[in-house]
Amino acid sequence: MVRWRRLIGRLAAALVAVTAGSFVLAVPAHAKPASDVTPYVVGGTLAAQGEFPFMVRLSMGCGGALYSPRLVLTAAHCVGRTGTNTSITATLGVVDLQSSSRIQVRSNYVYRAPGYNGSGKDWALIRLATPVTTLPTLKIATSTAYDNGTFTVAGWGATREGGAQQRYLRKATVPFVSDATCNSYYGGQIIANEEICAGYASGGVDTCQGDSGGPMFRRDANNAWIQVGITSWGNGCARPNYPGVYTQVSTFASAIASAAASLGG
Ligand code: ARG
Repeated sequence: MVRWRRLIGRLAAALVAVTAGSFVLAVPAHAKPASDVTPYVVGGTLAAQGEFPFMVRLSMGCGGALYSPRLVLTAAHCVGRTGTNTSITATLGVVDLQSSSRIQVRSNYVYRAPGYNGSGKDWALIRLATPVTTLPTLKIATSTAYDNGTFTVAGWGATREGGAQQRYLRKATVPFVSDATCNSYYGGQIIANEEICAGYASGGVDTCQGDSGGPMFRRDANNAWIQVGITSWGNGCARPNYPGVYTQVSTFASAIASAAASLGG
């Protein structure tokens, strides 16, 4: 049921991406009618300039993280098929998307996870036409060691279901939710080794439309940021008993690394 709605949502998102040149995503197609929707605020706060310097905004209305000077890690559902693609603009280095100090770079190639079919495997790499060497990259988790605890999420997406995209980057923290618990909420839809859930049972804090593709991250043993998730989907935003669902980066770390190498690093 929710899967079916997700498909519709994806089709709608694709349509928006195709018809609108820049983003304006989109009341999720599965949002309940207004009368039925509490004004769920995503529950975040403004990020400070420089706090998450690896954050990327993509012109189709998604987030991403700088994986290497030339590569942005995002969600498969944010991009089209693998191949040459010069139509995406990445904005980097700023919390304010209108800032005159923003860096803007075009894409020249998209690599979408092999086997991606709308369910799981929700990752992709976008190659930038010009390397960005003035910003730090975000390293990815290569084992499940950090697939627990409290995570930070960030993005320019909606602050409530059906809400507007944001000019200023926002952040929130959300606790890990086990696959078993997440599957009990989502009726078994979670692909345990490909997806990782996070959120409060009471709701109130979550990623939302337009945050997709952005990183979910935490501190590692050396107190460095490490990416454990990619914002992927959820039933609405911040609803009780519907945590956010994120791509489990550790599962795909070696596939991401090989793809990155094949794209020139
Ligand atoms: N699929 C959404 C996007 O394209 C992200 C949804 C995240 N939803 C959530 N409840 N955590 O931006």
